Amino acid sequence: MKRVLVVTGGGDCPGLNAVIRAIVKRASQEKAWEVVGSIQAFNGILWEPTEIKVLDEESVAGIHYRGGTILETTNKGGPFEWPVENSDGSWTSVDRSDEMIRKINYLGINAVINIGGDGSQQISQKLFEKGLNVIGVPKTIDNDLSATDATFGFQTAVQVATEAVDKLVTTAASHNRILILEVMGRDAGWIGLHAAVAGGADICLLPEIPYDINEVLEKVEERFTKDRGFAIIVIAEGAKPKGGNVSQKETEEVGYGKKKYGGVASALKEQLKEAGCPHDIRETVLGHLQRGGIPVAYDRVLATQYGSKAFEMVLSEDYGHMVSYRHPDIISVPLKEAISHYNTVEESNYLMQAARGIGISFGD
Ligand code: F6P
Repeated sequence: MKRVLVVTGGGDCPGLNAVIRAIVKRASQEKAWEVVGSIQAFNGILWEPTEIKVLDEESVAGIHYRGGTILETTNKGGPFEWPVENSDGSWTSVDRSDEMIRKINYLGINAVINIGGDGSQQISQKLFEKGLNVIGVPKTIDNDLSATDATFGFQTAVQVATEAVDKLVTTAASHNRILILEVMGRDAGWIGLHAAVAGGADICLLPEIPYDINEVLEKVEERFTKDRGFAIIVIAEGAKPKGGNVSQKETEEVGYGKKKYGGVASALKEQLKEAGCPHDIRETVLGHLQRGGIPVAYDRVLATQYGSKAFEMVLSEDYGHMVSYRHPDIISVPLKEAISHYNTVEESNYLMQAARGIGISFGD
């Protein structure tokens, strides 16, 4: 029997289970392959005792519409930065990648499918350079990976954010208020842009376009006549005012390499008040509602294609590559290309042009 190891890393994302199920179902067509999964990304391999489980058709039955991941996940640490506690209680990190590769070989694993976003695919590339047979599958609600038209999970996040805008419109209109919705996406404004267009927001503030608070206020005032009217603002968590900073904070979670985003909606509310905005302003932070729960059909379909293709890439030994969607095909691209640059919203993107064309203000 040959063995393929499946790993889900980074933040959870709608569609992860659909990828796992597709890998297992596709592999079951080939009699010589067994699929195993590591618990909590690569932790299951690195822990003593090892925590991996066999994934057969029974164990993945009916999971295609379930949110989260049956393998659990983590966005802390990893084989190259394994957190270790010092005797004084402080933390440091060590590189356990060589040891992990030895263990993977010892377990008779021939190939690894790493389902994850930017950080996870950087790990995939480094492991590949060390000789591991790795294939990547692009996952993230942020849609910030290059070399693919889409990452699964993104459409579900957009759907959740759009439904939130739809609900906020009714309250904003009834109370003549400004309602601000803070959405996720880190340094990429894709969720914000799509939700603003789909939900019909008046103002959309993105990480890629620093905003001028006076421009924002001017657009707000256009929407009010003698205190009657309302305005909806979608703000991406990575947005910042011109000359200002992103709202970020350090986290005390051990092994969490990045800063946490959050707080832009409340900062914007204060800035509007300071700029003289006379209207009632309320903010809503959508947070993890965008990541949890049932994937929309689009994400299940994309995830299923990704899982099937990833296993076919194992069969053809197409290692060091990532599954990618290039409409209308599902293809394989070098991992290096996928992590070479961060996929952000550009002015040349037609959705930006359409949004500006229908009068959405970006506060610039
Ligand atoms: O990358 C996905 C994402 O949901 C970002 O949009 C967000 O900033 C981050 O993860 C939140 O991570 P955590 O779940 O660790 O708070």
